[in-house]
Amino acid sequence: MKFKFMGALLGSLIFSAYADQALLDKGKKLYLSNCIACHNKDPNMKGSIGPEMVDAPLAVMTSKVMTGGYPAVLPVGFVPKRKTKAMKKIPKLQKDIPAIHAWVQSMKKKKK
Ligand code: HEC
Repeated sequence: MKFKFMGALLGSLIFSAYADQALLDKGKKLYLSNCIACHNKDPNMKGSIGPEMVDAPLAVMTSKVMTGGYPAVLPVGFVPKRKTKAMKKIPKLQKDIPAIHAWVQSMKKKKK
């Protein structure tokens, strides 16, 4: 009985680790195919046109991808990297923004 429970627990832990990895892999693939025309391959650094994006919360990334613009009300403590309005919206990515955001955050360099 006890072992069965442990097995189920272990199984679900392993499953969620795989699910997380799948989410990150998907986010990376979508970032590399949709964002690096302007942003850097490394989201910690400036790209050819777009800025680094590791500081942008999910709400900001969602607004940029869905509308091209920053949200009308910015999250507390977030300062946009640019005042320009050069990014175009890519709304077909709507359901995958959390995956892209998760991957970008997984790449974020710790501040020294
Ligand atoms: C056509 C070029 C272009 C593409 C493609 C593009 N961006 Fe951008 N992005 C920009 C520019 C330029 C800015 C700076 C603000 C502006 O001018 O819109 C920006 C800003 C951002 C910001 C805000 C960063 C900050 O901290 O201020 C996020 C987040 C972002 N982009 C995410 C993405 C994601 C995710 C993708 C791919 C799905 C993407 N962008 C594709 C050009 C682009």
